[in-house]
Amino acid sequence: MSKAIYVQPGGGYDQVVVGIHEAPAPGAGEISVRLHANSLNYHDFAVVSGMWGPSEPRIPMADGAGEVIAVGSGVEGFKVGDAVVSTFFPDWLDGEPCVEGFVRVPGDGIDGYAREQVTAPATAFTHAPRGWSHAEAATLTTAGLTAWRALMADGALKPGETVLVQGSGGVSIFALQFARMAGATVIATSSSDDKLARMAELGASHLINYRSTPNWGERVRELTDGRGVDHVIEVGGPATLAQSMTATRIGGHIAVIGILTGVGGELPLVEALVRQLRLQAVLVGSRTQQQQMIRAIDANGMRPVIDRCFALDEICDAFRYQESNRHFGKICLTF
Ligand SMILES: NC(=O)c1ccc[n+]([C@@H]2O[C@H](COP(=O)([O-])OP(=O)(O)OC[C@H]3O[C@@H](n4cnc5c(N)ncnc54)[C@H](OP(=O)(O)O)[C@@H]3O)[C@@H](O)[C@H]2O)c1
Repeated sequence: MSKAIYVQPGGGYDQVVVGIHEAPAPGAGEISVRLHANSLNYHDFAVVSGMWGPSEPRIPMADGAGEVIAVGSGVEGFKVGDAVVSTFFPDWLDGEPCVEGFVRVPGDGIDGYAREQVTAPATAFTHAPRGWSHAEAATLTTAGLTAWRALMADGALKPGETVLVQGSGGVSIFALQFARMAGATVIATSSSDDKLARMAELGASHLINYRSTPNWGERVRELTDGRGVDHVIEVGGPATLAQSMTATRIGGHIAVIGILTGVGGELPLVEALVRQLRLQAVLVGSRTQQQQMIRAIDANGMRPVIDRCFALDEICDAFRYQESNRHFGKICLTF
């Protein structure tokens, strides 16, 4: 028997219990994994905190990393002892987006990875980057792949282009790192000058405090000689979209990713029309995109930024810490 976290129907921190879960032996096409780490995302927070609580008892957490402990018949490409990391969409393996919403997303519509062992289709995992810890690998499933897909797949980022990243959360720090890896210039925003200094250390060329410069879109234009940036990693949502449009060059790309300031609001359509902007909504990415991201990580020796790790049964403390916005990069559970 191995340990698992369950969120009772409706969610909320007082509805989180530690239980047990028995992972069956792997059937055809399946692997069993001894999980060792999760990373936290806003989406997992919504499930656990009760914002979007589950309708039945649910093992939370979309991001899981660990070691293969058994391999079922017919599985190719995995062997016992391999370090692996989960995928966000077990059913979206390749090609164009083919999934709507979270019905089959681990930790939301189906059980996730806040547990010590799981048996799942081999295609629900990929190999982890070489030499990474399980906690490091667990940062990739949601935040890493979202940033990668936005910039590299949807954005077709080129060296010399300019990327604007908003804030210093998991997605934005990955976007900063991938943009630098690809030879792009990065403009970073944050509510904290200390965090901006750390973003400069990671390679951001221009820093804007979005609290002291509320019209940061104009500042971005100034910094780019009036042109605007090629790509925006838009994680703020309704309260930041208008500034993002001001910050983007004519015909530029806004990756519509986050809802940190809410889920509804006015869309300044005229600005989008006259500047011929491309707003591309993003929902993480496919398994193939995850493999492409990991190949690039292996080739470039990149490491993720982990702020802090908690134990598995400290999951609520970890989410309270995430809520406090004191973190820089990723928060993980290790077990
Ligand atoms: N669509 C997708 O596929 C997808 C995937 C992953 C995440 N998301 C969404 O993307 C958003 C960010 O996720 P995350 O995991 O990176 O969150 P996170 O790690 O919790 O990051 C939160 C950070 O965002 C920054 N922030 C908060 N309000 C802001 C604002 N008004 N303007 C600019 N920055 C602001 C803050 O940075 P500072 O402290 O530096 O100010 C904060 O620390 C969430 O809404 C999440 O649901 C979407």
